[in-house]
Amino acid sequence: MSTASDSTGPDLTQGIASEALADGAMLAGHVGEESVLLARRGDEYFAIGATCTHYNGPLAEGLLVGDTVRCPWHHACFSLRSGEALHAPALSPVACWRTERRGGKVVVLGKVEPSVARPTAAAAGAPQKIVIVGGGAAGFAAAEMLRRRGYAGSLTMLSEDAAPPVDRPNLSKDYLAGNAPEDWIPLRGDDYYAGQRIELRLQTKVERIDVATHEVALADGSRLAFDRLLLATGAEAVRLPLPGMDLPHVHTLRTLADSRAIIARAATARRAVVMGASFIGLEVAAALRTRGLEVHVVAPEKRPMERVLGPQLGDFVRALHEEHGVVFHLDDVASAIEAQRVLLKSGGAIEAELVVVGVGVRPRLTLAEQAGLAIDRGVSVDAYLETSAPGIFAAGDIARWPDAHSGAAIRVEHWVVAERQGQTAARNMLGGREKFDAVPFFWSQHYDVPINYVGHAEGWDEIAIEGDIAGRDCVLRYMRDGRVLAVASIYRDGDSLRAETAMEQASA
Ligand SMILES: Cc1cc2nc3c(=O)[nH]c(=O)nc-3n(C[C@H](O)[C@H](O)[C@H](O)COP(=O)(O)OP(=O)(O)OC[C@H]3O[C@@H](n4cnc5c(N)ncnc54)[C@H](O)[C@@H]3O)c2cc1C
Ligand code: FES
Repeated sequence: MSTASDSTGPDLTQGIASEALADGAMLAGHVGEESVLLARRGDEYFAIGATCTHYNGPLAEGLLVGDTVRCPWHHACFSLRSGEALHAPALSPVACWRTERRGGKVVVLGKVEPSVARPTAAAAGAPQKIVIVGGGAAGFAAAEMLRRRGYAGSLTMLSEDAAPPVDRPNLSKDYLAGNAPEDWIPLRGDDYYAGQRIELRLQTKVERIDVATHEVALADGSRLAFDRLLLATGAEAVRLPLPGMDLPHVHTLRTLADSRAIIARAATARRAVVMGASFIGLEVAAALRTRGLEVHVVAPEKRPMERVLGPQLGDFVRALHEEHGVVFHLDDVASAIEAQRVLLKSGGAIEAELVVVGVGVRPRLTLAEQAGLAIDRGVSVDAYLETSAPGIFAAGDIARWPDAHSGAAIRVEHWVVAERQGQTAARNMLGGREKFDAVPFFWSQHYDVPINYVGHAEGWDEIAIEGDIAGRDCVLRYMRDGRVLAVASIYRDGDSLRAETAMEQASA
């Protein structure tokens, strides 16, 4: 997380020549101390805050699409008309200013007061009681959107976690590396939930869903009725069936408590073994190197991340980690973990006082299975994110939805997808009929190198490479039969945003 904008550029209260800004262009200036983005669409001029409310990305370097602007870093989308954060990962609006044409100039005037959602009176058949199972990306984004849309009925969020909803992606990145203060981690402060009348019940496990009576049964024996239910139970880290997996220095990483436990162990450990060379495993490796530990990565594949990113980026990621001192043991797996070492199947052993197992996750489907919901390697939902039981929706890591872009029913484990599904499910729980049609997006960060990925490619027959991978300035297009299925990029944010909108338009 960093701050990209400060109050540079022209003073927009003094106005700029209207023709200095072409149709579809934008520029960053300021009003007093605040950075402001001025954008033009046809004869209309818009002025909104220039700094993304997610991680402070510079919106002026993003992309105008219709009357919205998309953030270059993780593709949040803001309305130019109101400043509203229309699509996650940003959840808070940016400020909005009035503009006026005066002679040949466009001048930015005073701020527009943010509109506060007025509670809407419940129409006949509208829900009065909404229950969300899960306090993660999808669950939180849904609760926030329900209140944003003026839902005034009861809203309960049940989460097995000990912590309120957190910025989970950070748990393997800056936070684990020791570069993020504690206050970056909660998605909202503690007083938010009471202020929004969201009853957040932590360390509360839902044991069963009763589809017929529309009730959930909690571990303490109590029951809770719902008119609409959102299932957003996410995924859990896979544990390996290995001798020594239960030793105290062996960790998986899903929750804030997991991240803190690894940090505590890293304080005294000299050497770490990370099992798994995919996103979380390698982000953990980078974070532990930043903390000065010697890091060994053990993984069965020949190249890290090849299955998702292909051989070229896989080789780059490997070289990047090796430059930072990570030692790879590829084409190999652990056969046992002991108190001071990890034994390898190939016969060797690595001394380690800390072991992190990052070998993938498994969607948490038990509740949905027991409730008799349709399951297909995930909870099957329709284009509106409703499950096979009317009134029960599912979103996030557990949901398999009909993806308009690939034409297949897919399930992905991406933060932004989970949040956007939570947002769409919320609007549909209130009676909307909105298809979930966002193009999947994720990012991953290794040291100072971000990798952005849009689309979904489970296989391809060609990877078209533009730019220089080793020079960290590249776009890779994963194609099948001449069609682009997905695009990965490093420091090519404009290309990544344009690829996203092209995919949206192709399936509109
Ligand atoms: C360390 C880490 C780093 C990541 N980094 C990235 C990244 O850089 N980019 C990216 O795109 N994605 C990343 N991801 C993946 C991303 O975090 C997930 O895709 C996302 O959190 C999924 O959201 P979700 O709401 O489906 O599930 P979660 O966020 O996992 O939330 C699930 C919630 O359900 C609760 N729950 C489960 N079962 C029950 C029950 N029976 N009763 C009550 N509560 C229950 C859990 O306690 C939890 O609160 C990362 C994941 C991890 C763990
Ligand atoms: S900084 Fe804008 S979306 Fe992340």
